[in-house]
Amino acid sequence: MQASGETAETGESDAGAAQVPGALLAWYDINARRLPWRAMPGERPPQPYRVWLSEVMLQQTTVAAVRAYYAKFLALWPTVEALAAADDGDVMAAWAGLGYYARARNLLACAREVTRRGGFPQTEAALRELPGLGAYTAAAVAAIAFGQRAVVVDANVERVVSRLFAIAEPLPGARTAIRAATNAITPERRAGDFAQGLMDLGSSICTVRSPRCLLCPLAEHCAARAAGTAEAFPVKAAKKAKPMRTGTAFWIERDGAVLLVRREGKGMLGGMRALPDDGWSARSHGHGAPPAPGPWRSAGMVRHGFTHFDLELQLMVGEGGDYASLPTGEFWPVDRLEAAGLPTVFAKAARLALAHR
Ligand code: ADE
Repeated sequence: MQASGETAETGESDAGAAQVPGALLAWYDINARRLPWRAMPGERPPQPYRVWLSEVMLQQTTVAAVRAYYAKFLALWPTVEALAAADDGDVMAAWAGLGYYARARNLLACAREVTRRGGFPQTEAALRELPGLGAYTAAAVAAIAFGQRAVVVDANVERVVSRLFAIAEPLPGARTAIRAATNAITPERRAGDFAQGLMDLGSSICTVRSPRCLLCPLAEHCAARAAGTAEAFPVKAAKKAKPMRTGTAFWIERDGAVLLVRREGKGMLGGMRALPDDGWSARSHGHGAPPAPGPWRSAGMVRHGFTHFDLELQLMVGEGGDYASLPTGEFWPVDRLEAAGLPTVFAKAARLALAHR
């Protein structure tokens, strides 16, 4: 499909754009994935709390990874009021392993504001005013939970739409053009189903590699397909290599319990329980001082990829000695460590320590 104007040879015009919503919705009516947070076509929309919770979890995270967390959160906190009343530490621990922990802190702030107001507002603009609720989530909740027309663009939609219109500009600059193109094809009615249809198409047919264009309901409207270049979209700016950081974490065990600390408020992994460390998250390289004189024994190293850097985290195990000035924390029974809700990098370090006991 052309972004604008008419192709002289075929007479195909923007009238093609008009056919996209119908073609996609007809495909979605038959092929919609059954997902725990989703109403199937024609069913009543799910409660806004469920839509909001799932959309927050699904950002930068796969459907497969989200399923168990979504079920756990609904079991622990079945309503937004229940979540608002939850203990911060319990919510952070329940989020452990899902990553991007600012989402969990924002989730709580938002749940508390929604509860204070007596419910979710129903328009995209009003949703956007809630603390920690970004442009994507506001559009998704407005469209899916409240049936409003909103333009919902996630990574799957970016891929489908950049192919449909053969948008040659690289990401992230292309986001403006992709949004405008998505706006041009979003219908007045069923915008939520339309958005979820684009997402499902992106995850099952219009995939990153080897898209299955023969099965695609939009193939005849797709500019990249016509050019035989679907895989080339979305075009991406050359990636900068991720820097490598190094750091050290410390395993200090006493009577079958290990010292855990609570990480500072809003920083990296803020609010999460963790092993004490040498402050790697605030440094670009090198190692900081241990929290006590030691002696220490190295248990090896774990690697973990964060969004903007990779980390090599050395693990030092305390061998007794002078631990008079330990950081403030709690000694957590090692045989119940699963329940501590450690973020993945520290869970990896803990596994290493336990393998070397
Ligand atoms: N990814 C983000 N939101 C989604 C949804 N509602 N359905 C499927 N995939 C999604």
